[in-house]
Amino acid sequence: MNAQRVELANLVKVFDGPGGEKVVAVDDLSLTVEPGEMVTLLGPSGCGKTTTLRMVAGFELPDSGQIFIGDQEVSRQAPNNRDTAMVFQSYALFPHMTVGENVAYGLRFRKLSKNQMQERVAQVMKLVGLEGYDRRSPNQLSGGQQQRVALARALVVEPQVLLFDEPLSNLDAKLREQMREEIRRVQQSLGITSLYVTHDQVEAMSLSDKIVVMNQGKIEQVGTPQEIYRRPATRFVADFIGKVNFFPVSRWALSGGQMDVQVYEHRLTLEAPETALPRDIVVMCRPEAIQLQRDAGIPGKVRKAVYLGSAVEYTVEMPDGALATVVENNPLPGGIIQPGEEVGLVFDGQNAHVLPA
Ligand SMILES: Nc1ncnc2c1ncn2[C@@H]1O[C@H](COP(=O)(O)OP(=O)(O)OP(=O)(O)O)[C@@H](O)[C@H]1O
Ligand SMILES: [Mg+2]
Repeated sequence: MNAQRVELANLVKVFDGPGGEKVVAVDDLSLTVEPGEMVTLLGPSGCGKTTTLRMVAGFELPDSGQIFIGDQEVSRQAPNNRDTAMVFQSYALFPHMTVGENVAYGLRFRKLSKNQMQERVAQVMKLVGLEGYDRRSPNQLSGGQQQRVALARALVVEPQVLLFDEPLSNLDAKLREQMREEIRRVQQSLGITSLYVTHDQVEAMSLSDKIVVMNQGKIEQVGTPQEIYRRPATRFVADFIGKVNFFPVSRWALSGGQMDVQVYEHRLTLEAPETALPRDIVVMCRPEAIQLQRDAGIPGKVRKAVYLGSAVEYTVEMPDGALATVVENNPLPGGIIQPGEEVGLVFDGQNAHVLPA
């Protein structure tokens, strides 16, 4: 199959709120999904993820802006003319049909013989690991199996674009992990361009070629999972993806490709960012990138130590009373620092990064 690029250009969608006020759900959003890529829209509830996806599917029309699939503009086309297929959180299976009939349903308007149809259904059932289940009724299946049927039903029409709206949120944690690997495997084996909506950062990290972090209808950052985690562009992104510390900066100066930064009474040398900075900045550092030492680093006092088995999570009080989180992986037996002890926070310039305050 020839994978297609999906392009969203300056999409805007405004709804009428319950009191007649305007709700800007999607606010001038532009995004390119390259052929065969899996791109995730990630963001808090109400930030416009579903609305964006529904505009790509054609269930909502944009107030302005354009949507392209390949070279074709589809912005105002009916959903069934778009060659997209959506997998929903609620599966949306027909309870009175068998699993096989549910999957074949998508093919009802295609001019296929009964044999061709059965063959296609069997193919996708195998792909999603449901061989032999076609005569069952959906209510005889587990949640994970039902979601596989929903995936099979989307795949059977061989869409050019697959859309997922929180497909795993009804599953328990273990099944969710298994199903996201499954979805990724199927998506990659077919090389099908996909847009996936979630508010679960772990899901986004593990599934995606690229993550789009959204906030209030706008894009905060687009990047690979690593870029988003290691080099968040804004405090919002840093905070949304995993745990993070922000340290106050009292003074800073650029020198060459580096910058000298004063955090509390401590001076650090960091890599200078590529973009210009405002005067007020903070240093961001992930909890697992900080080491606790006795006689070096930024001074603090351990307030809490929580043993998690593979790690210890410390809460450390900084000189100004702010609390920092430090995670030590593979703690040595007997090596846990007790609350009340004075420590120093040490981190490498490679693992710290400045952001506008
Ligand atoms: N049909 C509608 N009528 C009025 N307002 C709407 C409608 N659909 C969505 N909205 C509003 O648009 C905004 C974006 O909604 P959307 O469903 O796209 O968010 P979301 O990011 O998918 O959130 P969630 O994670 O909760 O699913 C919200 O403020 C929502 O209340
Ligand atoms: Mg939603």
